[in-house]
Amino acid sequence: MADTSQQQNGLKFPKDFLWGASISTHQVEGGNHNQWTVWELETAQQKASQAEYNYGRLADWSAIKPQATKPSNYVSGAAADHYNRYEGDFDIAKKLNFNTLRSGIEWSRIEPEEGKFDQAEIEHYRKYFTALKDRGITPIITLWHWTFPEWFAKKGGFTKRSNIRYFTRYVSYVMNELNISPQYVITINEPTVYTAMSYHERRWPPEGHSFVQSVFVLQNLATAHKKAYRVIKKKYPKAQVGLAHNCAYFYAGDNSRVSKFVAKLGHAFSNSYFINKVKKHQDFLGLNYYFANQVLGTKVHNLGNEQNDLGWDMQPDKLRPLIGQLFEQYKKPIIITESGVADAQDVYRKWWIAQSIKAINGAMADGANVKGYIHWSLLDNFEWAEGFWPRFGLVEVDYKTQKRAIRSSAQWYGKLIQKLRDTR
Ligand code: BGC
Repeated sequence: MADTSQQQNGLKFPKDFLWGASISTHQVEGGNHNQWTVWELETAQQKASQAEYNYGRLADWSAIKPQATKPSNYVSGAAADHYNRYEGDFDIAKKLNFNTLRSGIEWSRIEPEEGKFDQAEIEHYRKYFTALKDRGITPIITLWHWTFPEWFAKKGGFTKRSNIRYFTRYVSYVMNELNISPQYVITINEPTVYTAMSYHERRWPPEGHSFVQSVFVLQNLATAHKKAYRVIKKKYPKAQVGLAHNCAYFYAGDNSRVSKFVAKLGHAFSNSYFINKVKKHQDFLGLNYYFANQVLGTKVHNLGNEQNDLGWDMQPDKLRPLIGQLFEQYKKPIIITESGVADAQDVYRKWWIAQSIKAINGAMADGANVKGYIHWSLLDNFEWAEGFWPRFGLVEVDYKTQKRAIRSSAQWYGKLIQKLRDTR
């Protein structure tokens, strides 16, 4: 891990560059009732008893163990109580000099029963996004980050093409009733990750195990995105609409033709396949970056890199060639809509951010149009199947007291933003 102190010299960013962080409804709000909360209750006990099998190999297992072996770790419950504490959280975002925050709307709150829309909830989100704007922070509004009402799950969710209309209807409702003219909207978060984990790898609800079905779901999500895009643009032609796509950087670790070919295939399947389906319906490309894969022969071998608390190999510098590759291919403005580390001790976060910003600046110097860096995450949050133990927050959350503590990496990031604003 290199020293970060010298790395900010010479960086250049325009005044309107988006600096901030990201959260998602289900991971921080608390008090939700959707297909995911139902599944959490069904599986919490089992996950707690399998914790050692799942995480025992991790370097920090002894620190993780007390939380990971408790069923309550796997139940989102009150989460970070952000639904009630958002004003305080936005104050922190402001203190950190953010000019943007990516957050969302929870479909299961807006339409808890089929066709019955909750006016009080839309009013909540109107106040919520207004509170953000009042602080001079531009919201990037995510409409769907994997959770949906139970009635939609019972109908088969996105496995059925005929169900897409329910999503479109929800999007229309939000656009008509929110009464906030949105500057940035993200329709769907990480379609490829969701389909793989929920319909192929049995990791997330509804624990499907069919490659064919996952391909159908992916196709339906592409259609859902395109329809939502049209609805949003019709109402707000000036809104910038895109999706947040998880892309890994694939690169050959040697000079062999096989390695180069397999790296290309990895990029084509993991990254381009979905973008190609929706590229005419994207004003920007939202890029969620966590992984780089070094290919040797036909396999991925990531050797010698440090790992975060989840055991994920960290290569933040590879964001530069990835941005370059995607910009050359699609010529769309890119917003880094997520990127971050699970790091309870706050050992790597500052380094990760410094490396990422350097990579972005390098990609911009190479000619790419990058509009923003939105770190994952503002707050510690509920990390899906893993539950609460992984800590991605710039801000630490004590789940017993709901007290917030700004991590030192975040203090540093906040100061850096101030320094880098309008250095072009
Ligand atoms: C997701 C987030 C998640 C993060 C860290 C992204 O794939 O969009 O919801 O918490 O990665 O795993």
